[in-house]
Amino acid sequence: MFCSILACGQNGEIGLNGELPWEGQYPEDREFYEGQTELALRIGTRGAIAHFSPNRPCCLISANVQKPRDCIYVYDWKKLSVEQIFADIEDRVEFQKKIIVGGVKWYHATASFVDRIYLTRIGKSFNSDRKVDLSIILADRKKISSRPARHNSELIFETWE
Ligand SMILES: NC(=O)c1ccc[n+]([C@@H]2O[C@H](COP(=O)([O-])OP(=O)(O)OC[C@H]3O[C@@H](n4cnc5c(N)ncnc54)[C@H](OP(=O)(O)O)[C@@H]3O)[C@@H](O)[C@H]2O)c1
Repeated sequence: MFCSILACGQNGEIGLNGELPWEGQYPEDREFYEGQTELALRIGTRGAIAHFSPNRPCCLISANVQKPRDCIYVYDWKKLSVEQIFADIEDRVEFQKKIIVGGVKWYHATASFVDRIYLTRIGKSFNSDRKVDLSIILADRKKISSRPARHNSELIFETWE
């Protein structure tokens, strides 16, 4: 199964200066992200995968195919289609759950190919230099669950398929 996971402010804000616009402010969202990605293969761009670690398997999406240590594989988004990248990952890795972790263009490019989207909506606006377009990411999907965070009513955890 291929999924996406993202958190955004009420205008689609996801990033600021290479970090989250709300960096450190929402531990419950961090916990949710860690839980969803713990036993999964993360697939993301250089700006989205902050740390490479042997304990956190990932594939990188980049036209610069130099492979960082502890990254399983690098896919050149200029040469390969999303379908080709997903098919190769299916062949190569045994993880049942594969999860798209950004950045913006990779979320948009994969939006219609993933089986499920985990979206944390934060009911505030933020200063940001990166925004997603949720009308692209959620196009033709149904919300299958929605729950507020336990300790912060600003956060809603949604699942879309
Ligand atoms: N809130 C969240 O859920 C969340 C999630 C992830 C990231 N973030 C934040 O967002 C920011 C990073 O996001 P970003 O969008 O700036 O990431 P980024 O990694 O800087 O994305 C830009 C890169 O994406 C690659 N790219 C360009 N066009 C592409 C395409 N059509 N398909 C696939 N890849 C393409 C290129 O990589 P190459 O140049 O290497 O070829 C480009 O340099 C950071 O602030 C981070 O903290 C937030």
